[in-house]
Amino acid sequence: MANRRAVVTGASSGIGAATVRALRGRGWDVVGVARREDRLRALAAETGASVIACDLTDGAAVSALVGELERSGPLHALVQVAGGARGTDRVEDAAIDDWQWMFDANVLATQRLVAGLLPLLRATAEVDGHADTVFVTSTAAQTAYPGGAGYNAAKAAEGMLVRALRQELNGEPIRVVEVAPGMVHTEEFTLNRLGGDAVAAEAVYAGVEAPLLADDVADVIAYALGAPAHVNLDLITMRPVAQSAQHLLARGPLRVRTAE
Ligand SMILES: NC(=O)c1ccc[n+]([C@@H]2O[C@H](COP(=O)([O-])OP(=O)(O)OC[C@H]3O[C@@H](n4cnc5c(N)ncnc54)[C@H](OP(=O)(O)O)[C@@H]3O)[C@@H](O)[C@H]2O)c1
Repeated sequence: MANRRAVVTGASSGIGAATVRALRGRGWDVVGVARREDRLRALAAETGASVIACDLTDGAAVSALVGELERSGPLHALVQVAGGARGTDRVEDAAIDDWQWMFDANVLATQRLVAGLLPLLRATAEVDGHADTVFVTSTAAQTAYPGGAGYNAAKAAEGMLVRALRQELNGEPIRVVEVAPGMVHTEEFTLNRLGGDAVAAEAVYAGVEAPLLADDVADVIAYALGAPAHVNLDLITMRPVAQSAQHLLARGPLRVRTAE
């Protein structure tokens, strides 16, 4: 039987790249998508994935991506990881360009991908009995925090899009899975959020014993895709043990509290 094929966005770094590796390791054919071609080429050489460079905030580029995917074979799964945060501004003095970017990259890009790729997923589901979509939102979609508003709003909007989509597809054999991670220590997410300030970015993770890693999220995505086709994991919220809630982050070693 031919391999299943997934398109994974955000493939040039962090969670997306880890997801490409995880799915390739489980026998999927994978098409990795992001803007940076050099990184995509390196990932293709490492994993055997196909890659397509595309700016998901550009409607014409997404149409071209959809055309290429259509021509190159059936599509069994969309894994939408691309996105991110820009800035930690308070609402009253937020940089509108950053908020615009967050809505474009997290929300509107997701809509474009769904609109473009659903016909391909439906065609596959018609033949194979099912197809899948997975979206990486965030715990920031669930809980607001000071300085988080732009990202909170964008990820919450993406989450609502996903939850509405699941209902719109009711009656069709297409799963809609949302993965909402808490703190994940990836190379670029916080660095980009903090305008390239590497020291400030590292300070975010300082002393946290075992934040989530990209591979942890990738494993969960692969698990959701590998579960029996009738099992839809609607919303998977995952955090490091050190982060019991959005604001409750233990720094320093985790240790058992013994009675005095
Ligand atoms: N790290 C965390 O703590 C964390 C926690 C919860 C949720 N998340 C979410 O998980 C996802 C991945 O996070 P990450 O930590 O892996 O971040 P990352 O390393 O910064 O990866 C972001 C990916 O998105 C791609 N991307 C950004 N804008 C794009 C565009 N316009 N068109 C195409 N691709 C674009 C980037 O590739 P190019 O720059 O090459 O285009 C990159 O591959 C994001 O949606 C993020 O919001 C992250």
